[in-house]
Amino acid sequence: MTRPAAVAGAARTTAPVVVRSGELSKGGRRHLLSVAELGAEGIEEILEVSDAFVEVGRRSIPKVPSLRGRTVVTLFAEQSTRTRLSFETAAKRLSADVLSFSVDTSSVKKGESLRDTVETVAAMGVDAFVVRHTSAGAPAAVARWVDASVVNAGDGWHEHPTQALLDCYTIRQVLAERSGRPSQGAGVGCFVGLRVAIVGDVRHSRVARSLVLALGALGAEVTLVAPGSLLPPSLEGWPVTKVSYDLDAVLPHVDVCYLLRLQSERGAGAFLPSVREYSAWYGLTSRRAALLGDGALVMHPGPMNRGVEIADDVAALPQSLVLRQVSNGVAVRMAVLFMLLGQVGSGGAAPDLAPTLAPTPGTVPGA
Ligand code: NCD
Repeated sequence: MTRPAAVAGAARTTAPVVVRSGELSKGGRRHLLSVAELGAEGIEEILEVSDAFVEVGRRSIPKVPSLRGRTVVTLFAEQSTRTRLSFETAAKRLSADVLSFSVDTSSVKKGESLRDTVETVAAMGVDAFVVRHTSAGAPAAVARWVDASVVNAGDGWHEHPTQALLDCYTIRQVLAERSGRPSQGAGVGCFVGLRVAIVGDVRHSRVARSLVLALGALGAEVTLVAPGSLLPPSLEGWPVTKVSYDLDAVLPHVDVCYLLRLQSERGAGAFLPSVREYSAWYGLTSRRAALLGDGALVMHPGPMNRGVEIADDVAALPQSLVLRQVSNGVAVRMAVLFMLLGQVGSGGAAPDLAPTLAPTPGTVPGA
């Protein structure tokens, strides 16, 4: 795995550990299928590399040639706005060619199996598949079928690793800013003892699962807050400190309140008397937001259901990080794609983070 030049100077002595699922795949390709396989060191490494890409995003032309000549396919078999666009933006900012593939408009609808479809696309010469699917394990299956890197962009109720990474990046960035330090090189010490409440439909949430694993690995104290019916049937393997059914009691004692959407497409409605009742007990209204301590952060992976898990005016509070999470998502996904693909065929050469030059006026063909 490669670190971009901008962070290479800060390289640690340990070997890079990110993305260890090579043994699952053809051709020893690296993948990002789960936060579980990263550990604290792997997460820290991705956050550090993301710093370099946040810097790229601030340039007047936020594009670098690092993945020129590589092809990234976004293969989405489930609705998405931000995740798909974020990955596509990330790949384009790295100068990769991007193919956007939607299962709904593909030959899968004519009865072709997902495997045949994926192998067909791969035969065109693809370096990475970014996969979202309703079934847990679909990205891991794609990783076994093709000789390309695979990134899990959300699989069923299982995991959504890049969401957890961008959430951790955002927390670390805000805490570094508050302490007057740049986030670059800030490490992950800020997570130790950080009190995070994850509120809502934990049962059906791949975001919650990935985030709990990431925060647990980094030493945060995570409290799950939900009605019993929206908690997972077993919390074995979930590194959480506490479970609570009482949001009002938890709010004064947290540094981060992370809200989840009710996953109605996964049947969450059947686990509740009514959405109105859910909102009355677990929605972050302005009355409840006032219970939060000074400086506590409000986060949400989006899409938000305003008036259900979060009130309109709470989403607009200065400590609400929803849009910052989205912006950071592009840089974090650039880091992930770069770390998976940056070295392929480059013989280990230092990656190119030089700015992409603007065309000189008048030199555009046909202009
Ligand atoms: C999440 C998802 O799709 O899992 N959204 C996202 O990727 N930003 C959460 C959700 O849909 O509620």
